[in-house]
Amino acid sequence: MEFTLRVHPELKDDLLLRLFDRGTERQWGTDTLHWEEPETWDRGSQKAMAAVLTPIYLGEQTAMLGVSAMLPQMLNGHEPEAALCLASMGMDEARHFRNLWRLYQRWQLEPWSTRQLPEMWRYHARLLQRRDPLDWLWGILISDLFANRFYGQLAERYPNLLIGRLARRTVVDEARHQAFSDRYLTEKLKTVDDTRRQELLDLREDLFRVMEGLTRRLASPLDDLGWSAQAFLDALYQDTERWAGRIGLTGPAAAND
Ligand SMILES: [Fe+2]
Ligand SMILES: [Fe+2]
Repeated sequence: MEFTLRVHPELKDDLLLRLFDRGTERQWGTDTLHWEEPETWDRGSQKAMAAVLTPIYLGEQTAMLGVSAMLPQMLNGHEPEAALCLASMGMDEARHFRNLWRLYQRWQLEPWSTRQLPEMWRYHARLLQRRDPLDWLWGILISDLFANRFYGQLAERYPNLLIGRLARRTVVDEARHQAFSDRYLTEKLKTVDDTRRQELLDLREDLFRVMEGLTRRLASPLDDLGWSAQAFLDALYQDTERWAGRIGLTGPAAAND
């Protein structure tokens, strides 16, 4: 790739700049979570959660990969405000990854292996095949909606446990990522044709097929935690449906093209 960076680019997209500034102001360290407090959760629930967290754990790393794949394209494409937001998103995802690593360490447990959860690599591979920031950001938005719903439930169910506190902080970062994807995708989608829109909708179906496979494998630990996988997936699908309309991928904005 040939780079065409500008030494002193104009920064004029106030909304994205505000988002970046908010991201910078709200950085937080893993120490905020008081890891030294004794763990009061029973061993069975810890083990079930260690399994259920596996695809999320990998997902945080996929998000870091997504950031690194898109960043050069955005800088080279003279979108410095988007590049700033993405760079701060990379730091957030790195922190989420680090926190989960530390959680596994604390519990002295391992995530499930690739052999136990082959679908998680399929999800990863679906995204890695993509070259265009539009695909990546749509995939990342779906992953962020997943993360938001997942961490949101953790925060609600376990407000007094470390995992609940970790989730509460993480959700705030994920909401900022969604705001960025919302803005970026809404602008980009104004310029794409129906075939391209359909490709993005197909990507969603693909990702959901993989997620269904994943939740089937995780049925037993999900059951141990009293979570309904189907209810979760249905709600997540509704989330993506709402966002597809909101960013103009479907609905009146798309039909006007
Ligand atoms: Fe994340
Ligand atoms: Fe995220």
